[in-house]
Amino acid sequence: MRFYVNVDHVATVRQARRTDEPAPVRAAVLVELGGADGITVHLREDRRHIQDRDVRLLMETVRTGVNLELATAADVLALACELRPMQATLVPERREEVTTEGGLNLGSPESRRRIGGALAQLAAAGIRTSLFIDPDAEALAVARELAADAVELHTGEYANTRGARRAAELERLRAAACRGRELGLAVHAGHGLTYENVIPVAAIPEVEELNIGHSIISRAIFVGIEQAVREMAELIRRARQPFGPGAEAAGLAHH
Ligand code: PXP
Repeated sequence: MRFYVNVDHVATVRQARRTDEPAPVRAAVLVELGGADGITVHLREDRRHIQDRDVRLLMETVRTGVNLELATAADVLALACELRPMQATLVPERREEVTTEGGLNLGSPESRRRIGGALAQLAAAGIRTSLFIDPDAEALAVARELAADAVELHTGEYANTRGARRAAELERLRAAACRGRELGLAVHAGHGLTYENVIPVAAIPEVEELNIGHSIISRAIFVGIEQAVREMAELIRRARQPFGPGAEAAGLAHH
């Protein structure tokens, strides 16, 4: 299991004053010291938080790897192909959204053509590719057809619900993770994951990468980034233990 930390919110605080602090690149160093396996940033078309310079600095500084989230905007794609991060995750973007609201729309031929083109461009640059999708069989099939290396399953619905609905959403994630592996796709997961809800998702055996931002940066305000990352890394590690809390959450403890 790889654990990547999204540091966009550090840039959000900086952009609130259009100044030079806090710097995502400094946060990235501490995230790595805290035990994360990589740094995730979303270079939005509207440059709301992360800027081009941040991505360049991260590429020069990060010792683990950079997972660049991006939409299919031509200038962002060109920058990705120039900088060649370890991984690029294609995500949907709408200007008015507060955060990424759903998986990619792969339903229309137009969007499949656009996303397929972006994937081909990234792959030609030697970049591992991932598609952020809802945990649905149809979306997985399209991801396979478009030759993505990986999918990131959107965990937002799971995170935003409670009780029986949450259990059903977890089941949906598990089924999608299995189907993804059957199709030969690497399976990642993320969005809305917190210290309270991460364990059942981290315990899904087919999930090999988690991307987590908001919850960690929120805790970092109180305990510091390194400590916040360490605590999340420990929860994820425990979730993967055969008889740990993850096994229980996954309903495997009595087998
Ligand atoms: N994965 C993707 C594709 C995202 O767009 C985001 C948010 O930028 C995350 C994961 C992290 O979500 P959160 O900040 O809710 O942990």
